[in-house]
Amino acid sequence: MTRHFLNLADAGGDAVAAMLGEAIDRKAARAGWPKGRVEADAPLAGRVLAMVFEKNSTRTRVSFDIAIRQLGGSAVLLDAGTTQLGRGESIADTARVLSRMADAIMLRTDDHAKVEELAHYAQVPVINGLTDLSHPCQIMADLQTMMEHGKALPGLEVAWLGDGNNVLNSLIEAAGLMKFNIRAGVPEGYESDAGFAARARESGARIEVFRDAAGAARGADVVITDTWSSMGQPHMEAKMAAMQPFQVNGALMSLAKPDALFMHCLPAHRGEEVTDAVIDGPASVVWDEAENRIHAQKSVLRWVFEQI
Ligand code: CP
Ligand code: NVA
Repeated sequence: MTRHFLNLADAGGDAVAAMLGEAIDRKAARAGWPKGRVEADAPLAGRVLAMVFEKNSTRTRVSFDIAIRQLGGSAVLLDAGTTQLGRGESIADTARVLSRMADAIMLRTDDHAKVEELAHYAQVPVINGLTDLSHPCQIMADLQTMMEHGKALPGLEVAWLGDGNNVLNSLIEAAGLMKFNIRAGVPEGYESDAGFAARARESGARIEVFRDAAGAARGADVVITDTWSSMGQPHMEAKMAAMQPFQVNGALMSLAKPDALFMHCLPAHRGEEVTDAVIDGPASVVWDEAENRIHAQKSVLRWVFEQI
Protein backbone atom coordinates (compact mmCIF):
# COMPACT_ATOMS: atom_id res chain seq x y z
CA MET A 1 0.00 0.00 0.00
CA THR A 2 1.35 3.39 -0.99
CA ARG A 3 1.65 5.63 2.04
CA HIS A 4 -0.05 9.02 1.75
CA PHE A 5 0.20 11.79 4.38
CA LEU A 6 -3.05 13.70 3.96
CA ASN A 7 -3.76 13.97 7.67
CA LEU A 8 -1.90 12.95 10.83
CA ALA A 9 -4.24 9.98 11.32
CA ASP A 10 -2.85 8.43 8.12
CA ALA A 11 0.30 7.78 10.13
CA GLY A 12 -1.27 7.32 13.58
CA GLY A 13 0.02 8.22 17.02
CA ASP A 14 2.87 5.70 17.23
CA ALA A 15 4.31 6.72 13.87
CA VAL A 16 3.91 10.42 14.67
CA ALA A 17 5.85 9.87 17.90
CA ALA A 18 8.59 8.01 16.02
CA MET A 19 8.72 10.73 13.35
CA LEU A 20 9.08 13.44 16.00
CA GLY A 21 11.90 11.55 17.69
CA GLU A 22 13.74 11.19 14.39
CA ALA A 23 13.20 14.86 13.57
CA ILE A 24 14.70 15.95 16.89
CA ASP A 25 17.68 13.61 16.50
CA ARG A 26 18.47 14.58 12.90
CA LYS A 27 18.21 18.27 13.76
CA ALA A 28 20.64 17.86 16.66
CA ALA A 29 23.06 15.78 14.58
CA ARG A 30 23.49 18.52 11.94
CA ALA A 31 23.68 21.51 14.31
CA GLY A 32 26.05 24.14 12.91
CA TRP A 33 26.28 22.55 9.47
CA PRO A 34 25.73 24.55 6.27
CA LYS A 35 22.05 24.25 5.36
CA GLY A 36 22.70 22.44 2.09
CA ARG A 37 25.04 19.74 3.38
CA VAL A 38 23.70 16.24 2.70
CA GLU A 39 23.50 13.94 5.71
CA ALA A 40 25.95 11.03 5.66
CA ASP A 41 23.33 8.29 5.31
CA ALA A 42 21.53 10.21 2.50
CA PRO A 43 18.37 8.12 3.02
CA LEU A 44 16.48 9.73 0.12
CA ALA A 45 19.32 9.64 -2.39
CA GLY A 46 17.91 9.48 -5.90
CA ARG A 47 14.36 10.41 -4.85
CA VAL A 48 12.56 13.33 -6.48
CA LEU A 49 9.65 15.19 -4.90
CA ALA A 50 7.24 17.11 -7.16
CA MET A 51 5.79 20.08 -5.24
CA VAL A 52 2.56 21.54 -6.65
CA PHE A 53 1.33 24.86 -5.29
CA GLU A 54 -2.13 26.24 -6.00
CA LYS A 55 -1.63 28.77 -3.19
CA ASN A 56 1.23 30.96 -2.02
CA SER A 57 3.93 29.60 0.28
CA THR A 58 7.27 30.55 1.75
CA ARG A 59 7.92 28.04 4.56
CA THR A 60 6.32 24.93 3.05
CA ARG A 61 7.98 25.46 -0.30
CA VAL A 62 11.46 26.17 1.01
CA SER A 63 11.41 23.63 3.82
CA PHE A 64 10.35 20.69 1.64
CA ASP A 65 13.00 21.60 -0.91
CA ILE A 66 15.77 21.93 1.68
CA ALA A 67 14.57 18.88 3.63
CA ILE A 68 14.77 16.50 0.68
CA ARG A 69 18.14 17.95 -0.38
CA GLN A 70 19.57 17.36 3.10
CA LEU A 71 18.40 13.75 2.80
CA GLY A 72 20.17 13.35 -0.55
CA GLY A 73 17.17 13.79 -2.86
CA SER A 74 15.83 16.68 -4.89
CA ALA A 75 12.60 18.58 -5.55
CA VAL A 76 10.82 20.03 -8.58
CA LEU A 77 8.61 23.07 -7.99
CA LEU A 78 5.37 23.44 -9.97
CA ASP A 79 3.37 26.63 -9.66
CA ALA A 80 -0.06 25.27 -10.59
CA GLY A 81 -1.00 28.47 -12.40
CA THR A 82 1.74 27.94 -14.95
CA THR A 83 1.12 24.19 -15.39
CA GLN A 84 -1.55 22.46 -17.46
CA LEU A 85 -3.42 21.86 -14.19
CA GLY A 86 -4.04 25.60 -14.26
CA ARG A 87 -5.58 25.20 -17.76
CA GLY A 88 -7.94 22.43 -16.75
CA GLU A 89 -5.95 19.18 -17.09
CA SER A 90 -7.57 16.85 -14.59
CA ILE A 91 -6.10 15.95 -11.22
CA ALA A 92 -6.37 12.28 -12.19
CA ASP A 93 -4.26 12.71 -15.32
CA THR A 94 -1.80 14.96 -13.47
CA ALA A 95 -1.47 12.24 -10.84
CA ARG A 96 -0.77 9.60 -13.49
CA VAL A 97 1.89 11.72 -15.18
CA LEU A 98 3.66 12.92 -12.04
CA SER A 99 3.70 9.33 -10.75
CA ARG A 100 5.80 8.37 -13.80
CA MET A 101 8.22 11.25 -13.28
CA ALA A 102 8.57 11.77 -9.53
CA ASP A 103 8.85 9.53 -6.48
CA ALA A 104 6.39 11.55 -4.37
CA ILE A 105 4.02 14.49 -4.81
CA MET A 106 3.27 17.31 -2.39
CA LEU A 107 0.17 19.43 -3.07
CA ARG A 108 -0.98 22.71 -1.53
CA THR A 109 -4.52 23.47 -2.60
CA ASP A 110 -7.92 24.75 -1.48
CA ASP A 111 -10.45 21.90 -1.48
CA HIS A 112 -9.25 18.91 0.55
CA ALA A 113 -11.05 16.62 -1.93
CA LYS A 114 -8.39 17.56 -4.49
CA VAL A 115 -5.54 16.10 -2.43
CA GLU A 116 -7.65 12.99 -1.81
CA GLU A 117 -8.31 12.67 -5.55
CA LEU A 118 -4.61 13.09 -6.28
CA ALA A 119 -3.78 10.34 -3.79
CA HIS A 120 -6.46 8.11 -5.30
CA TYR A 121 -4.94 8.29 -8.79
CA ALA A 122 -1.24 8.59 -7.86
CA GLN A 123 1.01 5.57 -7.78
CA VAL A 124 3.49 7.36 -5.51
CA PRO A 125 3.03 8.90 -2.04
CA VAL A 126 1.04 12.14 -1.81
CA ILE A 127 1.65 14.70 0.96
CA ASN A 128 -0.82 17.40 2.02
CA GLY A 129 1.07 20.71 2.02
CA LEU A 130 -2.07 22.54 3.28
CA THR A 131 -5.70 22.45 2.26
CA ASP A 132 -8.66 24.45 3.49
CA LEU A 133 -9.34 21.53 5.85
CA SER A 134 -5.96 20.73 7.38
CA HIS A 135 -2.24 21.42 7.62
CA PRO A 136 -0.65 18.30 9.10
CA CYS A 137 2.97 19.14 8.15
CA GLN A 138 2.70 22.36 10.16
CA ILE A 139 1.49 20.52 13.22
CA MET A 140 4.38 18.02 13.01
CA ALA A 141 6.73 21.00 13.31
CA ASP A 142 4.63 22.49 16.11
CA LEU A 143 4.74 19.28 18.15
CA GLN A 144 8.51 19.04 17.66
CA THR A 145 8.86 22.65 18.84
CA MET A 146 6.81 22.03 21.98
CA MET A 147 8.87 18.95 22.84
CA GLU A 148 12.17 20.73 22.26
CA HIS A 149 11.05 23.47 24.63
CA GLY A 150 10.43 20.96 27.40
CA LYS A 151 6.71 20.39 26.94
CA ALA A 152 5.98 16.67 27.06
CA LEU A 153 2.85 16.25 24.95
CA PRO A 154 0.60 14.00 27.08
CA GLY A 155 -1.64 16.11 29.31
CA LEU A 156 -0.47 19.44 27.87
CA GLU A 157 -3.00 22.31 27.90
CA VAL A 158 -2.79 23.98 24.49
CA ALA A 159 -4.80 27.18 23.96
CA TRP A 160 -5.83 28.27 20.47
CA LEU A 161 -7.06 31.82 19.98
CA GLY A 162 -8.97 33.12 16.98
CA ASP A 163 -10.21 31.46 13.80
CA GLY A 164 -11.26 27.79 13.76
CA ASN A 165 -9.22 27.01 10.66
CA ASN A 166 -7.16 24.32 8.92
CA VAL A 167 -4.26 24.61 11.38
CA LEU A 168 -6.59 24.21 14.37
CA ASN A 169 -8.16 21.13 12.76
CA SER A 170 -4.76 19.43 12.53
CA LEU A 171 -3.85 20.56 16.06
CA ILE A 172 -7.06 18.98 17.36
CA GLU A 173 -6.26 15.82 15.42
CA ALA A 174 -2.83 15.77 17.06
CA ALA A 175 -4.42 16.19 20.50
CA GLY A 176 -6.35 12.97 19.98
CA LEU A 177 -3.31 11.07 18.75
CA MET A 178 -0.78 12.40 21.27
CA LYS A 179 -3.13 12.76 24.26
CA PHE A 180 -3.09 16.47 25.00
CA ASN A 181 -5.95 18.93 25.50
CA ILE A 182 -7.18 21.91 23.51
CA ARG A 183 -8.73 25.09 24.91
CA ALA A 184 -10.06 26.79 21.78
CA GLY A 185 -11.06 30.43 22.18
CA VAL A 186 -13.08 30.90 19.01
CA PRO A 187 -15.94 33.35 18.36
CA GLU A 188 -19.34 31.90 17.53
CA GLY A 189 -19.70 31.06 13.87
CA TYR A 190 -15.97 30.50 13.29
CA GLU A 191 -15.61 27.04 14.85
CA SER A 192 -13.23 24.37 13.57
CA ASP A 193 -14.36 21.17 11.85
CA ALA A 194 -16.73 19.11 14.01
CA GLY A 195 -15.41 15.78 12.71
CA PHE A 196 -11.82 16.36 13.86
CA ALA A 197 -13.06 17.41 17.32
CA ALA A 198 -15.35 14.37 17.63
CA ARG A 199 -12.56 11.96 16.71
CA ALA A 200 -10.10 13.60 19.13
CA ARG A 201 -12.66 13.39 21.95
CA GLU A 202 -13.25 9.71 21.15
CA SER A 203 -9.49 9.22 21.58
CA GLY A 204 -9.68 10.75 25.06
CA ALA A 205 -8.54 14.34 24.41
CA ARG A 206 -10.43 17.18 26.10
CA ILE A 207 -11.42 19.66 23.37
CA GLU A 208 -13.05 22.70 24.99
CA VAL A 209 -14.50 25.69 23.17
CA PHE A 210 -14.47 29.06 24.96
CA ARG A 211 -16.32 32.17 23.84
CA ASP A 212 -13.95 34.35 25.86
CA ALA A 213 -10.24 34.55 25.16
CA ALA A 214 -9.30 34.73 28.85
CA GLY A 215 -11.05 31.45 29.59
CA ALA A 216 -9.09 29.72 26.84
CA ALA A 217 -5.70 31.18 27.78
CA ARG A 218 -5.92 30.74 31.56
CA GLY A 219 -3.40 28.17 32.78
CA ALA A 220 -2.28 27.16 29.27
CA ASP A 221 1.14 25.59 28.62
CA VAL A 222 1.16 26.78 25.00
CA VAL A 223 -0.75 29.64 23.36
CA ILE A 224 -1.22 29.43 19.58
CA THR A 225 -2.90 31.66 17.05
CA ASP A 226 -3.01 32.13 13.28
CA THR A 227 -4.28 34.64 10.74
CA TRP A 228 -7.92 35.70 10.98
CA SER A 229 -8.18 35.44 7.21
CA SER A 230 -6.77 32.28 5.62
CA MET A 231 -5.67 32.11 2.00
CA GLY A 232 -8.63 32.16 -0.34
CA GLN A 233 -10.99 33.71 2.22
CA PRO A 234 -12.32 37.22 1.70
CA HIS A 235 -11.15 39.82 4.23
CA MET A 236 -14.48 40.47 5.98
CA GLU A 237 -14.90 43.36 8.38
CA ALA A 238 -17.49 41.45 10.43
CA LYS A 239 -15.06 38.58 10.94
CA MET A 240 -12.21 40.90 11.89
CA ALA A 241 -14.44 42.56 14.50
CA ALA A 242 -15.49 39.20 15.96
CA MET A 243 -11.84 38.11 16.19
CA GLN A 244 -10.55 41.29 17.84
CA PRO A 245 -11.21 40.14 21.46
CA PHE A 246 -9.16 37.00 20.71
CA GLN A 247 -5.95 38.88 19.88
CA VAL A 248 -2.91 37.41 21.65
CA ASN A 249 -1.40 40.35 23.53
CA GLY A 250 0.58 40.77 26.71
CA ALA A 251 -2.50 40.82 28.93
CA LEU A 252 -3.74 37.53 27.47
CA MET A 253 -0.31 35.85 27.70
CA SER A 254 -0.13 36.83 31.40
CA LEU A 255 -3.08 34.50 32.05
CA ALA A 256 -1.20 31.47 30.69
CA LYS A 257 1.37 29.59 32.81
CA PRO A 258 4.50 31.67 33.56
CA ASP A 259 6.61 29.42 31.31
CA ALA A 260 4.00 29.20 28.52
CA LEU A 261 5.16 29.23 24.90
CA PHE A 262 3.70 31.40 22.17
CA MET A 263 3.45 29.79 18.72
CA HIS A 264 2.21 30.86 15.27
CA CYS A 265 2.59 28.95 11.99
CA LEU A 266 3.31 32.26 10.17
CA PRO A 267 2.85 34.40 8.19
CA ALA A 268 1.76 36.67 11.07
CA HIS A 269 -0.42 39.74 10.77
CA ARG A 270 1.19 41.82 13.48
CA GLY A 271 -1.32 44.04 15.27
CA GLU A 272 -4.18 41.70 14.31
CA GLU A 273 -4.04 38.19 15.79
CA VAL A 274 -0.82 38.92 17.71
CA THR A 275 0.99 42.00 18.98
CA ASP A 276 4.64 42.76 18.27
CA ALA A 277 5.36 42.52 22.00
CA VAL A 278 4.21 38.89 22.11
CA ILE A 279 5.64 37.57 18.84
CA ASP A 280 8.98 39.29 19.53
CA GLY A 281 8.81 38.58 23.28
CA PRO A 282 10.43 35.94 25.52
CA ALA A 283 7.60 33.39 25.25
CA SER A 284 7.71 33.31 21.46
CA VAL A 285 9.27 30.27 19.75
CA VAL A 286 7.98 31.09 16.27
CA TRP A 287 11.40 31.05 14.56
CA ASP A 288 12.22 27.62 15.98
CA GLU A 289 8.75 26.55 14.83
CA ALA A 290 9.45 27.80 11.30
CA GLU A 291 12.87 26.09 11.17
CA ASN A 292 11.35 22.87 12.42
CA ARG A 293 9.29 22.64 9.25
CA ILE A 294 12.50 21.33 7.64
CA HIS A 295 13.22 18.77 10.34
CA ALA A 296 9.64 17.57 10.78
CA GLN A 297 9.12 17.24 7.03
CA LYS A 298 12.21 15.10 6.72
CA SER A 299 10.40 12.64 8.94
CA VAL A 300 7.21 12.94 6.88
CA LEU A 301 9.22 12.23 3.73
CA ARG A 302 11.00 9.28 5.33
CA TRP A 303 7.65 7.95 6.64
CA VAL A 304 5.98 7.98 3.21
CA PHE A 305 9.02 6.12 1.84
CA GLU A 306 8.59 3.54 4.62
CA GLN A 307 11.86 4.39 6.34
CA ILE A 308 10.13 5.21 9.67
N1 CP B 1 3.21 28.03 7.81
C1 CP B 1 3.21 27.85 6.49
O1 CP B 1 2.71 26.86 5.97
O2 CP B 1 3.84 28.85 5.79
P1 CP B 1 3.83 29.07 4.20
O3 CP B 1 2.42 29.47 3.83
O4 CP B 1 4.82 30.17 4.00
O5 CP B 1 4.22 27.79 3.53
N1 NVA C 1 -4.53 29.26 8.04
C1 NVA C 1 -3.54 29.78 7.15
C2 NVA C 1 -2.25 29.05 7.30
C3 NVA C 1 -1.13 29.56 6.43
C4 NVA C 1 0.12 28.76 6.57
C5 NVA C 1 -4.04 29.71 5.71
O1 NVA C 1 -4.65 28.69 5.35
O2 NVA C 1 -3.85 30.66 4.97
